[in-house]
Formats: sequence, structure tokens, C-alpha cells
Amino acid sequence: MTNSILEQLTHHRSIRHFENKSLSSEQVAQLVDAAQHASTSTFSQQYSIISVTDPETLKQIAKITGHGWMLNAGHYFVMIADQYRNLKIAQQNDADAYILHTTDKFLASTFDVAIATENIMVAAESMGLGGTIMGSVLNDPRKMIELLDLPELTFPLLGIALGYPKDKPELKPRLPKSAFHFSNHYNLGGNFQPELLQYDQLVSEYYKERSTNDRTETFTHHIVSELSRGHDVRSDLFAIIREQGLMLH
Ligand SMILES: Cc1cc2nc3c(=O)[nH]c(=O)nc-3n(C[C@H](O)[C@H](O)[C@H](O)COP(=O)(O)O)c2cc1C
Repeated sequence: MTNSILEQLTHHRSIRHFENKSLSSEQVAQLVDAAQHASTSTFSQQYSIISVTDPETLKQIAKITGHGWMLNAGHYFVMIADQYRNLKIAQQNDADAYILHTTDKFLASTFDVAIATENIMVAAESMGLGGTIMGSVLNDPRKMIELLDLPELTFPLLGIALGYPKDKPELKPRLPKSAFHFSNHYNLGGNFQPELLQYDQLVSEYYKERSTNDRTETFTHHIVSELSRGHDVRSDLFAIIREQGLMLH
């Protein structure tokens, strides 16, 4: 049995080419509404959403992320881990704000951001839109903090570029279920090696046959090249997160 939601979820692809058309304010409001109704850890709603519409700021973010194509998107969100609002509530009520600075609370705000982000993506796709989640805002969090006037206890985690799809990329094949869904205990069993070989073959065919940016690539090679990006890539993240007053304990 299937239904339209399952169909949509299993046909997700990131969209990086957009028609030259902005989202309406009603569409943006619907997406924000969908985000807000996501589950939120301890009902603390510890994230914020910034709609970036200023062309100069968008250009700066395109530079940070290295994704010039985002300038053709119909709307751009930045998703912010946010304990600042709850700090204000603590201060107004003379409450102890210690836990807002803990790793536990930083993690909770990243969960909130991630879940709300996916709600936006799913809602956008249900409206005939498409887009790409962008972790590349983390290439320069200090600049993002400055551009968006982010106060203490906030941190920019993800961008989301959305718009009317100009293309329909082939679906990217995922790992075989047996390599990541286990019963009762972790079991990356003896079959992993042959399964990985098979999956590499599948991924290689996907890259070879896709209509744009075709290349020779396997999943194994992709992971190994990710590892070879060097030790210095985003190595200042821990320090910057703590500069914001997050993850202090
Ligand atoms: C947390 C997160 C960060 C991502 N960051 C980027 C990014 O900075 N740039 C980009 O082009 N795609 C980014 N992506 C999209 C992934 O590359 C994409 O989801 C993955 O390759 C699978 O392809 P698909 O979404 O088309 O199925 C990100 C996805 C997630 C979940």
C-alpha cells in the first residue's frame, strides 16, 4: 500500500536549478507554518528562521557557501539554533539560565532545526517546489553571525534554497536497507562488503548516466574523498559555537 506522502518522500531529490520566479508571501507563510508544527524537543521551540531577501546579503551567503546558483532561488531561509529567546524568558523570570549553555541544549536546538528544516522541504515539495538544504553556511559562521545580527546563544546551522524546479534530476540511490537498518542490535554483518560493492556499482551507474554533471564516482570513493578534505576544514566550529555561549558545559 502506498499514499501520496510516501510517494513524495521516496521521490525527493535536491533541486539546484530554478525558474526565475519568487515564492509568494503566502507560500512562505505556509512553509514557516509547516516548520513550526514539527515536533520540538521539550516543547522549547529552540530555533528561529530568517528569510533572507536583501540581495546584498544573499550575494554574501552565495560567496560563503560557494553556491552561486542559490541566487536564482525563489526564496532563501537560514535556520538558526536559538536559545536566546529562552534566555530572555529566563531573565524576565529570574530563572537560572545555566542549562541553556549546555551541550544537551545545543543538541536539542540542532534537532529542532533539522526537523523543522525537513518539514519545510517536504512542505515545499508538496507545493510543487523544490530546493536544497545548505550546510555550507558553516563555511564561515562568524560572517553569517555578522550578516544576520545573531545574538549570543544563537548559531546559524543550515540554509534552505527553494524555488520552482527548472530540472528533475535522477533520484540518488541510497544504501541497501540491510546496511543501515538492523534488528535489536547493531549488525553491520558479514554481507556488508559484497553489498557495498553492489551499491558502488549502482552509484557509479547513477553518476555515469545522470543528465547533468555526469562523472565516474562510487560511494566508497565519495566517502574517501570526503575524508581527504583535510584536518583544517571548519576546524574552528567548536570555538565559534562556544563564543556564542553555546555548548559551554
Ligand atoms: C544537513 C545537510 C546539508 C547539506 N548541505 C548541502 C550544501 O551545502 N550544498 C549542496 O549542494 N547540497 C547540500 N545538501 C544536499 C545533499 O548533498 C543531498 O541531500 C544529497 O547529496 C542527496 O541527494 P538528494 O537530496 O538529491 O537525494 C545538504 C543536505 C543536508 C541534509
